[in-house]
Amino acid sequence: MIHLRSHSVSVVIDYSSGVPAILHWGGPLDDDRIDGALFDGPVLHGALDVVAALSVVPEHGSGYVARPGLEGSRVDGSDWSPRFTGAGEPAVNADRTRATFECVDVPAALQLHVELSLEPSGVLTTRATLTNIGNNEYRLGALRVTLPLPGHAVETMTMAGRWALEWQPVRDAWPSGTIAVENRGGRTSHDRPPIGFAGSSGFSEQNGEVWGVHLAWSGNTAVHFDAPSDGRRSTQCEELLSPGEIVLSPGASYTTPRVCAAYSGAGLNGVSQAFHRYARTSPTAPTTARPVTLNTWEAIYFDHDEAVVRRLADRAAAVGIERFVLDDGWFHGRRNDHAGLGDWWIDAAVWPNGLAPVIEHVRALGMQFGIWIEPEMVNPDSDLYRAHPDWALTDARYEPVLGRQQLVLDLTRPEVSTYLFERIDAVLSENDILYVKWDMNRSLLHASHDRRAAVHGQTMALYALLDRLRAAHPAVEFESCASGGGRVDLEILDHTSRFWTSDCNDSLDRQQIQRGYSYVFPPERMGAHIGPSTSHTTGRTHSLAFRAITAMFGHFGVEWNLLDLGDDDLVALTDLIALHKELRPLLHDGEGFRLDHPNPTVLAHGVYAYDRREAIVTIAQLESPRTQRVEPLRMPGLLDDVRYDVSIIPVRGAAPSAARRQPRWVADGLVATGRQLAVLGVPMPSMWPESAVLIRVRAR
Ligand code: DGJ
Repeated sequence: MIHLRSHSVSVVIDYSSGVPAILHWGGPLDDDRIDGALFDGPVLHGALDVVAALSVVPEHGSGYVARPGLEGSRVDGSDWSPRFTGAGEPAVNADRTRATFECVDVPAALQLHVELSLEPSGVLTTRATLTNIGNNEYRLGALRVTLPLPGHAVETMTMAGRWALEWQPVRDAWPSGTIAVENRGGRTSHDRPPIGFAGSSGFSEQNGEVWGVHLAWSGNTAVHFDAPSDGRRSTQCEELLSPGEIVLSPGASYTTPRVCAAYSGAGLNGVSQAFHRYARTSPTAPTTARPVTLNTWEAIYFDHDEAVVRRLADRAAAVGIERFVLDDGWFHGRRNDHAGLGDWWIDAAVWPNGLAPVIEHVRALGMQFGIWIEPEMVNPDSDLYRAHPDWALTDARYEPVLGRQQLVLDLTRPEVSTYLFERIDAVLSENDILYVKWDMNRSLLHASHDRRAAVHGQTMALYALLDRLRAAHPAVEFESCASGGGRVDLEILDHTSRFWTSDCNDSLDRQQIQRGYSYVFPPERMGAHIGPSTSHTTGRTHSLAFRAITAMFGHFGVEWNLLDLGDDDLVALTDLIALHKELRPLLHDGEGFRLDHPNPTVLAHGVYAYDRREAIVTIAQLESPRTQRVEPLRMPGLLDDVRYDVSIIPVRGAAPSAARRQPRWVADGLVATGRQLAVLGVPMPSMWPESAVLIRVRAR
């Protein structure tokens, strides 16, 4: 057996069956002398004479009758049920955090390579590679990475949602059977992201044992939780492959996306914190303060006019904006969302002087300039499509299904990726642009030019195009936006710098969306904007204070027509931006947490400094509470014996409520030990529905 260890996680691997089988992934086991009998089970009547290993790639051919790890066959249907044996000893690194395994099925002429790595963050990453060593094609149906879960993981939490209301947690009791999240939209998705948690009964933000998995992939995916009748629970993650999508010619290989898995004995927070630590080791992890951004979308939409954009930039600089992003509408023929995609040159009709003068203006005001693009797409009404209709992913035998009046370009064709590289490279080389918002506004359904399913190749080609552009323009940051929130995963994170989290800027919905996002992804990558007072996606009106406090915890920005603002709002916004700049080192580098609160009308979360001497907490009152007084907010996780000053951070316009008297600390602050804050909590202010407060906690 092999025991991989970090300070909070142990992974025990048995490889006696050939393919590595994880016997334990969970709490730390201090001693390496682990008796294999601890994991042994009976052979039962009514079952096979052998107990097949629940390996990382469980084999039907060895007697595993639940979902196998590998599905596929030769063209004649043979070799569909392989059985691997070990090919040599596994390789384990000196500090026992990584192990690789080689396996072979000689009759089926297949090789399997499995890698397991327990990262310093506590995240276990796993991937498997299948190689065809036969002399004819192998048609792969699925290669799934399987991780075991213990018998007391009896509830699950997965994510549902929709466009503009992403990451809505769904809790399920999981006594037996299968819980599945499958996405076939060709991008990570708004409604079925490859994320799942299982935990002990009643697991919560702060309590219980929790196991979380995420498939780092931006195409089609599936996450399953399976509890078959043999009593062995597991979770499986896979890239969902369509028929014929992966055909391995002799010598060819397929590698699964990375499965990222985190365990915590201290509730969902511990799992999220491990994912956040892991994300912070990404090659694209920010090394500079996240610039406060103004995005023009909800301010002007397609109404581009140089004079207006200049005035907007003047206002932006005056309130403290650091990055000015010109959204959709600047390129050839793009007067609305019916035309222009593909024609990536500046529209002379709208920008007769090009973009250079306005960029110079923005730069002279001390801001970075950013721009919007949607490279993977083409409108049938575009010069590009008229010249190259065959570049779109369509099958001439069928009428293509449009989405937002657009089709997807076949990025796997070198001439298409080269065209896109050259056009975008020209825009970035000819203009002083430091930021690119990369959008993707439709599902990907159509086959590639050889009529085969296209999502796998398209996803790989997308990563390659992004990498090529990043290498050519290392100072430029790229944002992953797919109608907001549609392409948020740990693989695209390695190729981009931030996510546009959701097209919804309504603070009430954003409270839930951002909480859902935070289960896996860190705050500094989360685009969060103050939208117009009346939300463009919900029609609800919220105070500036609520909008700002909600956006405060992410990569902060504004998406509001500042030219409409009166003096009071401009002053308030200036103060709020200054407050964010003061708090952002802690907000973006600290350890995020969500608090449990017994009242369902309350949401609370915050960020601790890693040394626990400081924290910023926010409470949102979502709707009217059913009781006159709301239960105190308990804040675990600080240092037990340290005394803390706890005070409300004044935010202009954040009126507490019409209560006759607020708890004393709302005006005067209070002093309490970390233990008192954990056990007693702070009395809840009386708050209006749809409002929030900010709290500062500082060691004395
Ligand atoms: C969808 C994005 O999510 C929006 O923020 C905006 O960029 C539009 N596309 C522009 O078409």
